[in-house]
Amino acid sequence: MNINLTQNKNFKLFKLISEVAEKNDQTVFIVGGYVRDLLMKRKTPTDIDFVTESNGMSLAKSIASEIQPSPTVTIFKNYGTAMFKFQGLDLEFVGARKESYAEDSRKPSVETGTLDDDQKRRDFTINSLAISLNKENFGDLIDPFDGVLDIKKKILRTPLEPSQTYSDDPLRMMRAIRFASTLNFTIEEDSLKAIKQEVDRVKIVSMERIMVEFNKIMLSEKPSVGLKLMEETGILDLVMPELTALKGIEEVDGQTHKDNFWHTLEVVDNISKHTENLWLRWAALLHDVGKAPTKKFLDGSGWTFHGHEFLGSKMVKSLFYRLKLPLGNDMKYVQKLVKLSSRPIALIDDGTSDSALRRLLFDAGEDLEDLFILNKADITTKNSSKQAKFKKNFEYVASKIKEVEEKDQVRNFQPPISGEEIMELFNLKPGREIGILKEKVKEAILEGEIGNDKDEARNFVIKEGETLGLILA
Ligand code: CTP
Repeated sequence: MNINLTQNKNFKLFKLISEVAEKNDQTVFIVGGYVRDLLMKRKTPTDIDFVTESNGMSLAKSIASEIQPSPTVTIFKNYGTAMFKFQGLDLEFVGARKESYAEDSRKPSVETGTLDDDQKRRDFTINSLAISLNKENFGDLIDPFDGVLDIKKKILRTPLEPSQTYSDDPLRMMRAIRFASTLNFTIEEDSLKAIKQEVDRVKIVSMERIMVEFNKIMLSEKPSVGLKLMEETGILDLVMPELTALKGIEEVDGQTHKDNFWHTLEVVDNISKHTENLWLRWAALLHDVGKAPTKKFLDGSGWTFHGHEFLGSKMVKSLFYRLKLPLGNDMKYVQKLVKLSSRPIALIDDGTSDSALRRLLFDAGEDLEDLFILNKADITTKNSSKQAKFKKNFEYVASKIKEVEEKDQVRNFQPPISGEEIMELFNLKPGREIGILKEKVKEAILEGEIGNDKDEARNFVIKEGETLGLILA
């Protein structure tokens, strides 16, 4: 098959590469994800990989020197690769490799090989496709492992015997699952078996790289595809046992609880229909994580998960730390949503008093809409009348919160009286009384004892200050 590259937006670049290689007496091919996505008519990536059957570094340098102004070529000696940026593209050149990996690491030992050697050692047949840029067969697709057929059949298959491909580089197990989730492909049976057998080798892969793949799964249209595969192969148990601990249904005295693992996957899929925000999707993934360690059967009340939101939000931090995820605002956001996840619904049972609504508004602040998205996604009952009831209850809480918000403006709460003003009132130096009084003002506003208003706050502080024994200046 010949791929007509003349219409390709990078045609001029491909032609230039072809000519330089020809001049240098080198072969050159486009390989990997670019070819795959081109054939699948997906948006092609901005990083393009090229293979030559001799030295990739010298080819990269020769090409860069033909471009004005010449881009800087970065060399990765250990891997024998060279790359440079050109018109928003990351172009990477590598000498064809015949390689094997050491048992205990992902670092390959490299030997020069032919294109065929190089294609064999790639992860999946759909990633082993190459397009020739050589003069005699420019545009020819080189597909020794039937990658095109596998694209049609939507399957992920390894070019070599699966256990060899996976044990060569165990990150590929995560890649298989990631591609299954993002491309909606099936992992071929023998491959899936090999992943299950080799699963322990995932332990030699760095957490950062596992998380790159995991987050791609989380950002796919239906993350449960990848999450289920991670569960089935045992990878999830190795990486996030806190989640697999949610699996299972127990029964005591004829009373059961829902399987919180499968429920969680549904919530993640639900939320993914409404947001591309990775961390909101993570909040859905972890919203019930505290349920396994808090689960109790109590006579009279049945199954309870008391305090699971609070414990869950603590677990978010240790999980993020172990998973080498960012520990700044993104983590805090996930913690906050996990902690608040049951609050809006609890309001229905405990009564929608204005003070409870104000408190939620105060605690959720600018993340209130995201919390609502999470709450809606959390409704997974299959019973349609129950579903309608939950939705209605929820809409009711949301509308009540809106009312309170308009009235009291506590969402991005700014105290109506400042610490300096309090100090002036009582002629005080900075000290703990100021904090106590400010907290009292906030509480009084949230409880509805006073309005969110300067004069009311001032009068309140005078009264409270006096009970603390302070004397008005
Ligand atoms: N590759 C591999 N084994 C890996 C990683 C990569 O065999 N563990 C090969 C595949 O042929 C892959 C190519 O290197 O197509 C480029 O890898 P990378 O850029 O990481 O992924 P892409 O396949 O391009 O996919 P994406 O851009 O979606 O990450």
